[in-house]
Amino acid sequence: LWTPAEIVEDAIQQIRDKVGSDKVLLGLSGGVDSSVTAALLHRAIGDQLTCVFVDNGLLRLNEGKQVMDMFARNMGVNVIHHNAEDRFLSRLEGVQDPEEKRRLIGNTFIEVFDEEAATITDVDWLAQGTIYPDVVESAQSRSGKATVIKSHHNVGGLPETMKLKLVEPLRELFKDEVRKIGLELGLPYDMVYRHPFPGPGLGVRILGEVRKNYADMLREADAIFLEELHRYDWYHHTSQAFAVFLPVKSVGVVGDARRYEYVIALRAVETLDFMTARWAHLPYELLETVSSRIINEIPGISRVTYDVSSKPPATIEWE
Ligand code: XMP
Repeated sequence: LWTPAEIVEDAIQQIRDKVGSDKVLLGLSGGVDSSVTAALLHRAIGDQLTCVFVDNGLLRLNEGKQVMDMFARNMGVNVIHHNAEDRFLSRLEGVQDPEEKRRLIGNTFIEVFDEEAATITDVDWLAQGTIYPDVVESAQSRSGKATVIKSHHNVGGLPETMKLKLVEPLRELFKDEVRKIGLELGLPYDMVYRHPFPGPGLGVRILGEVRKNYADMLREADAIFLEELHRYDWYHHTSQAFAVFLPVKSVGVVGDARRYEYVIALRAVETLDFMTARWAHLPYELLETVSSRIINEIPGISRVTYDVSSKPPATIEWE
């Protein structure tokens, strides 16, 4: 069995043998797989790597800043930060259907990424953070063994349009190995063990039409939930936890007046494979703190609910 240090050594050698002195482009999302890919490629080929980080306006609070601090400022990786919030939000205007939202977000991502790629001269390689389970999953869906329930946009799509050769240094690794080599490469524990975040981001956590003010409220609520999960030491005892924005108005009383404001649902699950999941039995005290903080700190929210549905039949995401 190989140690993380040996896996890193071997991967670095393979990357160098493969790309030589060519330039490599990587879409950095801030998730575990693309972050570890970035750290590994940077260790192997330094300045030959350029990362593109697309801010679609549907990220968690301060995510763009965190990615830039970590990779560009701390590690010295070349990262282009493209703020495309307006473009994504204007495309999503009036769109209600979840799969249509996913498709639009995915296509807009490819469009923005392509434009950035075109500004970098002489790139030959596209790096992707594909890991072994992704390879198996896409092989199964090609052969029709598995039903593709949702269109996950973060695998595939890019190479065809870009005519770049692919380098996928994590292709033979399982998630736990990817995490271990992330730590070995010096990435912080909280980054390497963070919960998964869907490619379409908050776009599928705002039910129905996506609007900027909804996304702003949801970001605040989500940040409060995650902060309290960490403070109560529950974050790493859940597999995924997040807030969902419900665009319905429910009544609240402020002073003598009745006010009709939006609802936030909290979702936290425990799972091994994300195919089935149990809702997390969070302590009431934690839920109480989160609920009162969300209602008191976020204007526009008057009610918080906790999702007690397991998967199946309920999915983890609400859309
Ligand atoms: P569901 O909601 O299907 O989610 O129970 C299972 C896991 O997949 C994630 N998910 C997505 N990831 N693009 C992604 O990259 C998507 O469109 C998407 N939809 C769901 C979800 O967050 C959970 O981890």
